Amino acid sequence: MQSTNAMIYFVLVLLFINLNVSVAIRSVTYNGIGTFTWNFYDPVYRPSAFLMLPQNPDKIDPSFHLFTRNNTEQYDVLDYKEQDSITHSHFNSSLPTKVVIHGFRDGEQIGYRWMKKMSDRMLERENVNVILVDWYAGSFGMYGQAMVNTQIVGAMLGNLISMLANSFGANNFHLIGDCLGVYVAGIATIFLGGKSSLVNRITSLDGSGPIYTLPGYNLLSNQPFIDAIHSDPSFFTYQQTCGTIDFWPLLQRTTMNNVRARDMYIDSLKKDIPQPKTFECENESSFKQGKCTDCGSNGEKCALLGPNAIDYKKFVDEISDENQKRKRFFMITNSVEPYLSKYQYIIKIKNNNLNWLSIFSIDSIKFYDSNGKVDHLILNTWMGLSNIPCVLSIMPNNLKKIKLIQNPHRYWMNLGKRIDVCVIDLTYPNMGMEGPSNVIKFCLSNDDGDMQTVVLNRC
Ligand SMILES: *[C@@H]1O[C@H](CO)[C@@H](O)[C@H](O)[C@H]1NC(C)=O
Ligand SMILES: *[C@@H]1O[C@H](CO)[C@@H](O)[C@H](O)[C@H]1NC(C)=O
Ligand SMILES: *[C@@H]1O[C@H](CO)[C@@H](O)[C@H](O)[C@H]1NC(C)=O
Repeated sequence: MQSTNAMIYFVLVLLFINLNVSVAIRSVTYNGIGTFTWNFYDPVYRPSAFLMLPQNPDKIDPSFHLFTRNNTEQYDVLDYKEQDSITHSHFNSSLPTKVVIHGFRDGEQIGYRWMKKMSDRMLERENVNVILVDWYAGSFGMYGQAMVNTQIVGAMLGNLISMLANSFGANNFHLIGDCLGVYVAGIATIFLGGKSSLVNRITSLDGSGPIYTLPGYNLLSNQPFIDAIHSDPSFFTYQQTCGTIDFWPLLQRTTMNNVRARDMYIDSLKKDIPQPKTFECENESSFKQGKCTDCGSNGEKCALLGPNAIDYKKFVDEISDENQKRKRFFMITNSVEPYLSKYQYIIKIKNNNLNWLSIFSIDSIKFYDSNGKVDHLILNTWMGLSNIPCVLSIMPNNLKKIKLIQNPHRYWMNLGKRIDVCVIDLTYPNMGMEGPSNVIKFCLSNDDGDMQTVVLNRC
C-alpha cells in the first residue's frame, strides 16, 4: 500500500516537472482558522487527501444548531463570531455539551433525520446542550475534498468551543463524529491545543480513520477518551482499532445489512433499554466461540457500548503503556431494530451419541418464547461439528422451546436418522444485561413426528 502510493507520488511529481504545470498551491491560509498544507495526506489513512487543500470557509459554511431541553424542536443558531448568538440562545454553560458531526455527503435534510433523532434521545436521557454541526456544502464534493475540508470545520468548531469556554465557562464537551465527522472532532480538539482538556471524550461512529494519526495529535496535553464503534467487521479498514476502546457489535444474522454504528449508538441512548454489555476479546472468531465471556474480577474486561462507554475510563487510566491501552470489545446484536437485545447467550449443543455427522446436519435453530414468538438462527456450518459453543443473542427473553432443523440436503449424512441431541445448554454467564448467571437446560421431547426436526422443551 505504502510503496504503491509512494510510486504514484513519484510519477505525479515527474509529471509536474515535465509538463511544467503552473506552480501548484501547497498551502492556504484563512484568517482566524489556520494555514493548511498538503500534510494532511497520509499514505495509509488518508490517501485521498493527496495534493488536496481545503475549500474556502465561506463556501463550506458549517452551521452549529443548538437543541436543549428548553428548545427540543426549534434550534438556535450559534455563531462563534457573535457572542450575542450564545447569550440569546438556550445554551446553559453549566451543563455538559454533546456535539454531533455528520460525515461524507450528509447533513442538511438528509443527515438531519438521524442527527435530530440522536439529539432527541440524548435530551430525553440527560440534561445537556446538543450542538449539531451541519457542514453539508463542504461534505458534498469528491471524497478527498470533503476529507480535507474537515480541517476547516474542525477549526471552526474549535473556535466555537473556545468561545463557549472563555466567555461562558462551559468546560465539558463530548464530540460524536460519524465517518468523516470523526476527523472534524479530532481537529477541533487539536485546534484547542493546551485547552484540549475541554473535550473529555470523542465517540467515533464508523470513523474514517484513527484520530491519533492526525497531524498534531500527539502534541496534545490532554488526549480525550475515544470510544469507537465499528459496524462492519468484514470490511478491511474497520478491523483496525481507532480509539481507546473499540467496539464491534456483531450482527446475529449475516444477511445484507446497512446497519451503521450510528444506529447502534442511537439505540443505546434509549432510556429503557438494558445496558449493552460488550466483552474484551482478541478477535471476532474467538468471541463467537464463547472464549471471552468473563468480565474479570473488577469488571475490567467488559465495557458498555454507547453513552456509558466512558465508565471504562477508570480502567484505561491505570494503564501506562500506550499500546496496551487500545482494547477490542465484542457483542452480539440483532440485525434489525432494536439492535441491542437483552441477552447474549452461549449455546452448547451436546450430542448424545457423539455422532458428529448428525450435528453437522443441523443448520438452523428456532427459538420460541412463551407467546410462541419465534426467532430463527442460521448456524455456522462448522459450529456443531467441533462441539464448540457459539455466542449469540436472541430476542425471546422467556424461552420455552427450541427446534433444531436438519438441512434436507445434508440429511443423508445422518443416514436418515433423527439427530440425537439430548440437551442444549443456554448460558448467559454474566453476559446478560439483566438476569441471572445461569444455565437453562432443554431436553428432548418426542412430540414432533417430523424426522428432520428435533424439539426440545425446557426441563
Ligand atoms: C429553561 O426553561 C426554564 C423554565 O421554563 C427557565 O427557568 C430557564 O431559564 C430556561 N433555561 C434556558 C437556558 O433558557
Ligand atoms: C443551567 O443548568 C443548571 C444545572 O442543571 C441549572 O441549575 C440552572 O438553573 C440552569 N440555568 C438556566 C438558566 O436554565
Ligand atoms: C483469534 O485470536 C486467537 C487468540 O485469542 C488466535 O489463536 C486466533 O488465531 C485468532 N484468529 C484470527 C482469525 O485472527
